[in-house]
Amino acid sequence: MPSGMSPGADPAARVDALRELIEHHSRRYYLDDAPEITDAEFDALLDELAGLEAAHPELVRPDSPTQRVGGAVSALFTPVTHRQPMMSLDKTTSYEELQAWGKRMERYISGEVRFTCELKIDGLAMNLLYEGGRLTKAATRGDGLVGEDVTANVETIRAVPRTLGPGAPDLVEVRGEIYMSTTAFDALNDRQTAAGERTFINPRNAAAGSLRQKDPAVTASRDLSFWSYQMGAIEGGPRFTRHWETLEWLRDAGFPVNPEIRLLDGLEAVDEYCRHWLEHRHELDYEIDGTVVKVDDLAQRGELGATSKAPRWAIAYKFPPEERTTLLRDIMVSIGRTGKATPFAMLEPVVVGGATVSLATLHNQDQVAAKDVRPGDTVVVRRAGDVIPEVRGAVLAARPEGLAPWVFPSTCPACGQPLVRLEGESDTFCVNVDCPGQQVQRISHFASRGAMDIEHLGERTVRAFVEAGLLTDVADIYTLDYDRVATFEGWGPTSVDNLRRAVDASRDRPLANLLVGLSIRHLGTTGSRALARAMGHMDRILAASTDEMAQVEGVGPVIAASVHQFFALQRNRDVVERLRAAGVNMQGPEAPALPQLLAGKSVVVTGTLAGWTREEAEEAIKGRGGKAPGSVSKKTTAVVLGAEPGAAKLAKANELGVPVLDEAGFAALLETGEVPSASQDPGPG
Ligand code: IVH
Repeated sequence: MPSGMSPGADPAARVDALRELIEHHSRRYYLDDAPEITDAEFDALLDELAGLEAAHPELVRPDSPTQRVGGAVSALFTPVTHRQPMMSLDKTTSYEELQAWGKRMERYISGEVRFTCELKIDGLAMNLLYEGGRLTKAATRGDGLVGEDVTANVETIRAVPRTLGPGAPDLVEVRGEIYMSTTAFDALNDRQTAAGERTFINPRNAAAGSLRQKDPAVTASRDLSFWSYQMGAIEGGPRFTRHWETLEWLRDAGFPVNPEIRLLDGLEAVDEYCRHWLEHRHELDYEIDGTVVKVDDLAQRGELGATSKAPRWAIAYKFPPEERTTLLRDIMVSIGRTGKATPFAMLEPVVVGGATVSLATLHNQDQVAAKDVRPGDTVVVRRAGDVIPEVRGAVLAARPEGLAPWVFPSTCPACGQPLVRLEGESDTFCVNVDCPGQQVQRISHFASRGAMDIEHLGERTVRAFVEAGLLTDVADIYTLDYDRVATFEGWGPTSVDNLRRAVDASRDRPLANLLVGLSIRHLGTTGSRALARAMGHMDRILAASTDEMAQVEGVGPVIAASVHQFFALQRNRDVVERLRAAGVNMQGPEAPALPQLLAGKSVVVTGTLAGWTREEAEEAIKGRGGKAPGSVSKKTTAVVLGAEPGAAKLAKANELGVPVLDEAGFAALLETGEVPSASQDPGPG
């Protein structure tokens, strides 16, 4: 990794070293499709070099990577000279830098400036040449002047038009991004895993690897997509004065143009667009690494011109990276409350996606095998939004010699009993019901906030009590021997009293919380609430058949079967009886008191409402017999729109013509069961 320059080091030597490093990593990225470092780490090298060159102008050379567009041309493909160079983009990361860019532009142009704001798609730049209305050449960006001929491969991509129809220019270069959707990427990696093949690290690598193939049949099998966002050379055809018009023309000519592109006035609105997408980037079905802001007026673009590397009329607003490389110290297996054995990575701590990550999930046995990550590897770690950090894969080029593959353990690390993996299942389980590892997880889950919410009974305490034989199942919590607790280190009279009080208070939790706390496979918060509401009492659940439970809205056959199976075991019934004897509440909320006005209707809530929390709004819908799913479909009755709504949900609602309600409309819907007629689309653009 790039280390900062130590004081007194020779800047010329560091500049040389950086150029060599950048050259090396460029080759790994553009030619081999096998980067050893993440994009952000590469950018950091470039930034360091640019900083040194700015401080020591005598060290600048025309062939420095700071003066050129990255990339190179592999001998595998025929070189293609672009009609118009494919430049790179300068970048900003803040409103201040955006304003500084605006200020710089004032030196070249005056008057109003409008901006097209686009998403920065994380894929592979492509130049499509159409002559006489036919696709004649498709080329990668290469070094910006000369790219690689990948026409045969691009011809297999459905989203790329082969012909342009009547009125096409004599010649036109259409630029855009070849990318792989997240859905396609996940499906591809699932197929790789099932076939025992190595998985791809991220959608960008998968797209690049799929495109730069000698055999177009491989590309054809890979479900690649395309967004067009820029026109290069154009001869004999429509004349454009604004970028927005070129985008409209592209759309009419059959090119996919991203629906999130906006035309905005003023950098404040631009900044809002950028920050909106920083927050909502994960709602898209493709990865973006920022936004791109472009001057819309083509005459102004002409006046602004370009540096040797990038135009002055556009800038990339880069998001903080969500991927970093780090050392994989070890792989361990944790045992969950259902006995599931989950492998996880112990990492050299690394800051990524706004947090320091030292643990990351590896999901299951097949995923470790498909990723083929080994302790001692340099691995790519991703942390996106609130999602748990994940190891995406190993950097093979950095693998030390002789590193042995990791082998999934055959026995439970907590109890030593054999681990079992059933035919057709991807998960491995410890099936020993007395496994202390499972006991700890089950009891701490029972005490956790989403279940019985017992303060002072966290996982560490539970582990200590289990190890001392004070707890073996959740019912033991209510007969805890506090005299013995008082003998534990750190447990003074106040702590013991606090714990006793917290345990007492938990006896009154609603039935739904108790159901959540029992660790019944497949039964989560939503299913527990539905079951508690519909059945009203634990005794009715104990007596219910699978069919009866499956009838409950929000439960379904899988959960019903699992709940039934759980209570078929005498051991589990005994736990319930001991909880009852300890005075734990077994009663649910009253049977539905509300008129079931929304029965058969499905209402999606997105964004923040002023008068309801998300949970309250969804409860209000479900309490009236309706469904409150997390995504919009043909079956959606209405979408309730709060502040900062999910863009994907709104777009889908508009696309399907689903009515969109504000809070007042939502209140009316709850009141009457009917969608108020004045509903309309308040969405932007
Ligand atoms: S415009 C001169 N628009 O970003 C302007 N580029 O560092 C050329 N990219 O190589 C690019 N989304 O691969 C433009 N909406 C967008 C883009 C975009 C992604 C990529 C493209 C280019 C790189 C620039």
